[in-house]
Amino acid sequence: MTKKLFIKSYGCQMNVYDAERMTDVLKPIGYSVTDRPEEANLVILNTCHIREKAAEKVYSELGRLNREKIKRTGKDNQMILAVGGCVAQAEGAEIVRRAPYVDMVFGPQTYHRLPEMVARAHRDANVVLDTDFPVESKFDHLPEPSAPNGYSAFLTVQEGCDKFCAFCVVPYTRGAEFSRPTTQVLAEAAHLVAGGVKEITLLGQNVNNYHGSCDDGGEWSLGRLIHEMARIDGLSGIRYTTSYPADMDDELINAHRDVEQLMPFLHLPVQSGSDRILKAMNRRHSSGDYRQIVARLRSARPDLALSSDFIVGFPGESDKDFEKTMDLVREIGFVQAYSFKYSPRPGTPAAAEPLQVSEAVKSERLAALQDLLNDQQLAFNRDCIGKEMNVLLERPGRKPGQLVGRSPYMQAVQVNAPESLIGSLVTLAITDAHGNSLSAHLGSAPTGPFVSEKRAIA
Ligand code: 5AD
Ligand code: SF4
Repeated sequence: MTKKLFIKSYGCQMNVYDAERMTDVLKPIGYSVTDRPEEANLVILNTCHIREKAAEKVYSELGRLNREKIKRTGKDNQMILAVGGCVAQAEGAEIVRRAPYVDMVFGPQTYHRLPEMVARAHRDANVVLDTDFPVESKFDHLPEPSAPNGYSAFLTVQEGCDKFCAFCVVPYTRGAEFSRPTTQVLAEAAHLVAGGVKEITLLGQNVNNYHGSCDDGGEWSLGRLIHEMARIDGLSGIRYTTSYPADMDDELINAHRDVEQLMPFLHLPVQSGSDRILKAMNRRHSSGDYRQIVARLRSARPDLALSSDFIVGFPGESDKDFEKTMDLVREIGFVQAYSFKYSPRPGTPAAAEPLQVSEAVKSERLAALQDLLNDQQLAFNRDCIGKEMNVLLERPGRKPGQLVGRSPYMQAVQVNAPESLIGSLVTLAITDAHGNSLSAHLGSAPTGPFVSEKRAIA
């Protein structure tokens, strides 16, 4: 009998990747995916612990799911309720205290053991708790991924973090930095491309610090890995995220100049423009370092579009510090960005700092920063009107007859086009710009470079 699996992922793209791999692990024991929790026999909340709000959402969702769980009667109709991901890793048994009806709690490094956990959950009334950091990598135990179900895909190449920024839970939830061996990564990339994938986003919490071992006993950097991936026939786009400024080395910067498939977009979190705050955050770069790195990147790839993360209201942040963040944003110019109010996370050094910033001040600063970032994003989007871009059309859009894809600069692009073009890289003429996306017409035939300055066809 096939059993139904429902996974809901929160937070970052790595959780999206992990959810797919969990599905691969559970398929051999009879689980197939459903998008309806009401019919699921196993529900997994794949959680995020990065900010308080993200973690709290999990508990309200658990309450809702429990109402469904208690309706189930009969042996074959039961629901196993599981919490995976970073909240599970950080809170462990605390989850069971707050939500005693949860059957399984497991962290991001143990999901290869899901079949055993599920068997134990069936046998045993006690909660199954597995939040170890196993010595052996889960990647050595995961089955071959199933056929991809789209034209763009994520591929985790690096996981964990040794940077210990003072605000961040990731080093505690994802564990120490680890890079997957190059052969494993290249085999997975080739498998994705053989299954129809045309664009791959390499994932890692510190992806640009990738240093995977290769067969000759040496190590490859991310720049080298990207060069090798670009040789895979049929792969037209490569992206990577998330990067740490101090780890942008020459090989990677030069890949932006030399590798045509590497998209001209980079997410490079800076967090703050104030050196005093960057130091208090335990970041290993100053605002000047960041400016220099951006200058090197832009000289390698002049049209590189930048995105970033910002935290406002970090403990001790003064008006002057915040102004430095605004100055940096004005100076660099970002095409999109994520900005957050500082959220104290249990167990991180910054949470214990005495000089916490008030909610009201955080809100004020966040609004000012987001106004500026939104203006920059809209200006960049407007600047795209009249240009032609090669876009991989990925799926139907919200309106009938519409398809959507991503521009080389990561903007969502909508176009009226026949469904037969899903999965094709097509040239689009950008006709209109919105806050978060672009509209386009089908343009001329695909050409070599990803963006041309030709005027749009009216
Ligand atoms: N509070 C607010 N934002 C945070 N981030 C990480 N930890 C916190 C926190 N405690 C943000 C950082 C990071 C992004 C993924 O989330 O900007 O780059
Ligand atoms: Fe968190 Fe800093 Fe590591 Fe990024 S580099 S995951 S912000 S500790």
